[in-house]
Amino acid sequence: MKQGQATATQRLDYQAPAFWIDSVELTFDLDPAKTRVLNKMRLRRNPDVAPQPLRLDGEELNLARVLVGGAGTSFKIEGDQLVLENLPEGNEPFELEIFTTCAPNKNTQLSGLYVSGDTFFTQCEAQGFRRITYFLDRPDVMASYQVLLRADKAQYPVLLSNGNLVESGDLPDGRHFARWQDPHKKPSYLFALVAGKLVAREQQITSRAGHKHLLQVWVRPGDLGKTEHAMNSLMAAIAWDETRFGLSLDLERFMIVATSDFNMGAMENKGLNIFNTKYVLATEATATDADFANIESVVGHEYFHNWTGDRVTCRDWFQLSLKEGLTVFRDQEFSQDMAGSPSARAVKRIEDVRVLRTAQFPEDAGPMAHPVRPDSYVEINNFYTVTIYEKGAEVVRMQHNLVGRDGFANGMKLYFERHDGHAVTCDDFVQAIADANPASPLAQHLGAFKRWYSQAGTPRVHAQGQYDAAAQTYTLTLTQSCPATPGQPDKQPFVIPVALGLLGQDGRALALQLEGEDAAAGHERTLVLHEARQTYTFTHVAEAPVPSLLRGFSAPVILECDYSDAELLTLLAHDGDAFNRWEAGQRLALRIALAAIASDAPVAQAAVLPPAFVAAMRDVLRHPQLDAAFKELVLTLPSETYLAEQLQTVDPQRVHEVREALRAQLARELHADWAWAWEQHHASGAYRPDAASSGRRALAGLALAMLCLDARTSGDTLWPGKTYQRFKTAANMTDRLAALGALVGAGHALAQPALERFHQLFKDDALVIDKWFALQAGRVDRGGDVLPSVKALMKHPDFNLKNPNRARSLVFSYCSANPGAFHRSDAAGYVFWADQVLALDAFNPQVAARLARALDRWSRLAEPWRSAAREAIARIAAKADLSNDVREVVTRALA
Ligand code: ARG
Ligand code: ZN
Repeated sequence: MKQGQATATQRLDYQAPAFWIDSVELTFDLDPAKTRVLNKMRLRRNPDVAPQPLRLDGEELNLARVLVGGAGTSFKIEGDQLVLENLPEGNEPFELEIFTTCAPNKNTQLSGLYVSGDTFFTQCEAQGFRRITYFLDRPDVMASYQVLLRADKAQYPVLLSNGNLVESGDLPDGRHFARWQDPHKKPSYLFALVAGKLVAREQQITSRAGHKHLLQVWVRPGDLGKTEHAMNSLMAAIAWDETRFGLSLDLERFMIVATSDFNMGAMENKGLNIFNTKYVLATEATATDADFANIESVVGHEYFHNWTGDRVTCRDWFQLSLKEGLTVFRDQEFSQDMAGSPSARAVKRIEDVRVLRTAQFPEDAGPMAHPVRPDSYVEINNFYTVTIYEKGAEVVRMQHNLVGRDGFANGMKLYFERHDGHAVTCDDFVQAIADANPASPLAQHLGAFKRWYSQAGTPRVHAQGQYDAAAQTYTLTLTQSCPATPGQPDKQPFVIPVALGLLGQDGRALALQLEGEDAAAGHERTLVLHEARQTYTFTHVAEAPVPSLLRGFSAPVILECDYSDAELLTLLAHDGDAFNRWEAGQRLALRIALAAIASDAPVAQAAVLPPAFVAAMRDVLRHPQLDAAFKELVLTLPSETYLAEQLQTVDPQRVHEVREALRAQLARELHADWAWAWEQHHASGAYRPDAASSGRRALAGLALAMLCLDARTSGDTLWPGKTYQRFKTAANMTDRLAALGALVGAGHALAQPALERFHQLFKDDALVIDKWFALQAGRVDRGGDVLPSVKALMKHPDFNLKNPNRARSLVFSYCSANPGAFHRSDAAGYVFWADQVLALDAFNPQVAARLARALDRWSRLAEPWRSAAREAIARIAAKADLSNDVREVVTRALA
């Protein structure tokens, strides 16, 4: 393992490469214990850079031979670099051959070339290619690749790499070969190979431009029946990118391959995407609605990278959000367009914002806070974060909204005209969008807008309204500020688009006319806040309005506004913007929860929710027009993590206790309504994963959970019985898991037999067994009972820490997604966490470093948690042979 040389890389130190690599010919003799790699490159000096030695990156390689122009040459090994000093002078291309071997079956980090099951896979982003051969392993070196794969034919009948298959055939001794040629130049992080016993679902398509393409989804032989949804998603993604952005598939063949051992979600290797099985395999019997939606979104995401990532890539890894933020924005838009109705789109938007606020806002307020374009890193793998991805997508979304949908399409066009085939920066992207829209507010405030890329932290916007009845004016004052983040004590103002509307007291939308305008212009508009403080005056306002601010979550900020309860109830009942309608309910719940948390009064069995709130929730639940999916979101209380983020000092047990009390009260006081909702929405009949039917299942599932929760105190046996029946007879995984979750969540006696039965039914399906572990590790804690069962599950024969999906399903579900169970006052949760971080770090630093983030927010915990957390982090930091990955995370946490 690489360790001990934890030096930071700085963005401003960027230098162009001293050599270019025009082409690469790779020959692999695949063997799990010892794979031979011959790497034959054509290089030339970069005339723009002063002559210097060639330094190639390599990690855990055995070097056998180096030839320049076919002849032996002298070389040095310096740390992880192969240094060649005696290379031909001048700018003529020359040939360099490097022979190395590596041991894929010992590669437990799952970076570079590794073995999963009996199949070879690669993962090269960000710096895995150097674990395959010596190379200029940086994204701004783009080369043509030709790959020759050789392996035993019986064991590895399928041999895949990027691009087109140009030749294949048999070799002596039962071996065979395949030669692949990628027609496009690419950086090394997009290289891929796969070899093993796989089968493919195939689909021929003809693009709008009339070109034919072969699509393949490769899986293990038993999984072919689970690939239909992935293939449909791929076809939908291809069609969407053509219609929405005019971007077509540029390859004859496009392949997706699934592996059950994968550090992340999926990888956009040119023409050969490699996926975690979790984002490929689905049948209604084994996958939930959420799984179906995730598959559509991740298949879309990786496909969209073919343009935003592969055709135009990143100059250096500080620019990661150039491809990730943009591609997340694209996959979010794709999912919204697939969802169809305005209300289904709003549901998707709410879900995305919920992720941003529960994961990215805490990151931006914690020790790992970094700008969308970071300035420095020790281990780049630690920067595949919600900030780079989700906040990066919000920054692109703001650009989209500031220039309009057509303006953005024009900006994208210009971006590709300028940069196709190149490795560029975040600046280049914004510049293209602005240049294509010179009259837009984006172009007008471009310099200030770019601060979204350079400044970390979540801005706070404070809104203060003043109604003047005599003058019939409404004056809105917006002020902004941003807290200090590591290395950035002071922030300049951001450019913040604030979409808004005004509602009358009866809830109808008021016409908007700003001072100085001749006439009212519509019922919604976007103010562009670009100074620390700005005031806007609306005229002809006949009554004191209720402002609906930051509609659709028009900027990734925390909006503070002193709404009265009555105003929030008005917004919840009437706002024409579905996002803000949901948000009003969340604000009300938040306010009630925070007051209860602060009060210290006992909450168990108490009525904490005021009648007006309960009534408003009932109105939403019973509303004749609202969609079920939207109702489910409104009726779900803010998470413990989100509640904790609002507090200066966090007592995680108090947060847990209060939220559970509120849930119990909603379950009790809306009992008849939940029963009604279940009867109305639980359907049988053919399964379809579309937005409307999955919304109905979501609401029915929530109803069942609430009915079982209430049965816990009322002693009712009817609903748990019904739930168990539902669990047994459910026709799809969504309904089955919802029923199981309702029993487990309520801690009902039927939970245990149901869990056993579930395991028995699905013991051969790894992705379903992941759900089985996750459900138990994530369940509501009652008196500290979750940790003992997590520890028992660690000993289950199906548990395996080395498999990332399994580690996530048990260890991460407990440490990172179940705060009420994890933050124990006896510190046993933290001790367990530190043990698992260390155990993981011994073989997979990337996954270990993710787990190490679970205590990022330790410094805001109340005692005794704070000291205990610090001690657990310090125990990890004290280990001498930590990976750079984990070292960087714990060092920042303790700084
Ligand atoms: N580019 C991939 C994606 O779009 C993520 C791969 C990251 N892998 C890693 N080991 N850091 O989602
Ligand atoms: Zn991506």
